[in-house]
Amino acid sequence: MDLSELIRPEIRKLVPYSPGKSSDEVKRELGLEEVIKLASNENPLGPSPRAIAAMCEAAPNVLYYPDPTWRELTEALGKKFGMDTETVIIGRGSDEIMHMAGLALLEPGSEVVFSDPPFSMYPMTATLFNATSVPVPAKNLTHDLEAMAAACTDKTRLVFVSNPYNPCGTIVSQAEVDRFLDAVPDGCVVVLDEAYYEYVDDPSYPNSLEYVRQGRPVIVLRTFSKIYALAGLRIGYGFMPPALATGLRQTCEPFNVSSVALAAALASLEDEEQVTRSQQMVREGREYFYREFDRLGLHYAPTQANFIYVDVKMPSVECFHHLMRRGVTIRTGDIFGMPTWIRVSIGTMRHNRAAIKHLEAVLGEAK
Ligand SMILES: Cc1ncc(COP(=O)(O)O)c(C=O)c1O
Repeated sequence: MDLSELIRPEIRKLVPYSPGKSSDEVKRELGLEEVIKLASNENPLGPSPRAIAAMCEAAPNVLYYPDPTWRELTEALGKKFGMDTETVIIGRGSDEIMHMAGLALLEPGSEVVFSDPPFSMYPMTATLFNATSVPVPAKNLTHDLEAMAAACTDKTRLVFVSNPYNPCGTIVSQAEVDRFLDAVPDGCVVVLDEAYYEYVDDPSYPNSLEYVRQGRPVIVLRTFSKIYALAGLRIGYGFMPPALATGLRQTCEPFNVSSVALAAALASLEDEEQVTRSQQMVREGREYFYREFDRLGLHYAPTQANFIYVDVKMPSVECFHHLMRRGVTIRTGDIFGMPTWIRVSIGTMRHNRAAIKHLEAVLGEAK
């Protein structure tokens, strides 16, 4: 028997997540001394020294299972953000919390609305639960919330809003989200995915936790992968009204997050200086990229995140390969249906300068 026939048909259709090659692979294959990875919106400044110390301290105790209630971390997050601990869920990355939301809320025939291009987990969440994806084209490189509200039906159970928007880096404002939440029909839960929220400096950015306090049908997702530089540990968190949190907790496998990750996340929250330094690095990097893209005559989306989306006016896959051979990795826009755009993570100034130097050379060669 062909064992693949045992796999549910909708799962067989899933295209596996394509992380691209690791820096080590690229180095080995191309004989490069260094690869500058500007492909996954990580934080090159690295984790807080306090987080590293906490991981080392937690290491000998990994013989024990971790705390399945995540007590210390939920208390710390509750205190930091003025939220009840009952509203907090901890996941193996915010990705796992999206999965929990799918398990708790979706059934075959449910609809999942998101902006197109989407972050890959949104359509994947729909497919995993045999729900229908409803992509709504972005407008001017940002969410078209009016069209998204109009796309919601009585079958819509989840709406994903990535704010800032991956891949474009744009945000939707408090006033826009207020209107959107009033417009979506009862029965929809709106996931405000704020993986990059610490990098936002636009004052119109929504105070999304207030929606949770008001008991609106909202899940706010955040992560330790980005500014806290713990992507490899896999830990994220979400705030939502207690009834939703109870439902998501019921889907959750016991001990979902490791004790080392819990310890590192807790220690990270205490290091505001690491956050401030990372914000400064990104602010400086954004200004640098704006100036350089202007000089090169390239159209880009002003960003509120630690990445920038730019139209390189050549096939992005070609641009990717040329840059990779020169030791810089980025994301191509073709996976987002925008074949001449690339997404570049903002790194240290050394990384950013190298990226521009090589991009300029690649664009010169392509002429
Ligand atoms: C918009 C968005 N949401 C969520 C995530 C996933 O974050 P985590 O590492 O917490 O699963 C990412 C990661 O790239 C992202 O870009």
